[in-house]
Amino acid sequence: MKIINIVGARPNFIKIAPILRQMRKSSVIEPILLHTGQHYDIEMSKRFFEELDIPSPDISLEVGSDTHARQVARIMERFDDVCDTRKPDGILVVGDVNSTMACSLVAAKKGIKIIHVEAGIRSFDREMPEEINRMVTDAIADLLLPPSKDAVDNLLREGHSPGKIHLVGNIMIDTLMDSQSRIRQSTILDQMGIEEKKYALVTLHRPSNVDNSSDFKRILLALAKIGQQLPVVFPVHPRTRKILDDPELKAITSSMNRLILCDPLGYFDFGRLVAGCRMVITDSGGIQEESTVYGIPCITIRENTERPITVLEGTNELAGTDTGKIVGFASQILEGKWKTGKIPDLWDGHTAERIIACIEKEM
Ligand code: UD1
Ligand code: UDP
Repeated sequence: MKIINIVGARPNFIKIAPILRQMRKSSVIEPILLHTGQHYDIEMSKRFFEELDIPSPDISLEVGSDTHARQVARIMERFDDVCDTRKPDGILVVGDVNSTMACSLVAAKKGIKIIHVEAGIRSFDREMPEEINRMVTDAIADLLLPPSKDAVDNLLREGHSPGKIHLVGNIMIDTLMDSQSRIRQSTILDQMGIEEKKYALVTLHRPSNVDNSSDFKRILLALAKIGQQLPVVFPVHPRTRKILDDPELKAITSSMNRLILCDPLGYFDFGRLVAGCRMVITDSGGIQEESTVYGIPCITIRENTERPITVLEGTNELAGTDTGKIVGFASQILEGKWKTGKIPDLWDGHTAERIIACIEKEM
């Protein structure tokens, strides 16, 4: 069974590493790796291949950045040709980025089976580009592999056949667990001159937060207040780089004398920062999950989340972009008044095994 595994953006690399490792052990699956080129900076792409021991892609589409429609169109055109020459039996897509949806659409039109890992998560917010990608991909996928019970319920509510849905757990957590010894060896805290539990870790890249300077200003004002209590470490996503040059915003960041702005970090250094911080402040999907597994308080800078289990069972709370609310949550954390949370079922480091067993049985 020839399966093309699709990756394009940072979180995809982290999810595909354990899946490919497990696929290579299968006697019936021939895995092929395709990189669309949606992310291309060394620190957003190549570094994860090296760190996580992901083989070089068999196929690179090199589509680069553009508007969503153009990026999706370019991936579709190039992937169409790939399907004609490689003739896969199936494709495996992860997550909810443009590459996920674009390749799924091509496969569906050609009658090629689609496996969607991380199916069924919903923010119910169609202004998020990812929500459209999730709904379209799930609508046309043949095997739906959700990470949690709430995602199964969403799929059933949308009328998907129960026979297509298999709860496999959270693939992100396989990589987190596999990487523990490398994460512990990271010297990033010393390099940054910060101490365990005495800094806040920030990431922001959602268009709703970083594409508009008035929204971003409210968030930065909160970070400036929190920065009076402890150092703030902020690895900056490429999407967020430009807005930090806005003079009004620059005035806020320049006033923060304990702000550490840096380029995006590698997986092990970043994991060490998550595991060791006092709090995470983020709008990332994956980091909401990782902080829950580490038991680290997480303030999510969004009004909703497609990962409600991190709020219900984990250490996450939604703050939106209200300066007062973000600062209020941070104060609660600093006063030790935060929930401890638990690790959700099947976020156990064995999701890749369940995925491959399911593919072998169902496809
Ligand atoms: C994408 C995903 C988002 C995911 C995020 C992970 C979509 C719709 N969005 O968002 O779901 O959470 O990746 O990080 O698929 N850029 C660079 N270098 C790169 C990549 C991007 O400079 O290597 C810049 C470009 O200016 C580009 C912008 O970042 O226009 C946005 O990149 P894009 O892939 O469109 O979306 P992300 O915001 O990265
Ligand atoms: N991450 C990383 N370096 C960073 C920031 C994030 O390795 O500087 C990892 C993080 O640990 C998680 C993943 O990238 O595994 C999350 O990706 P991102 O926030 O870009 O996307 P999302 O999960 O929001 O789609």
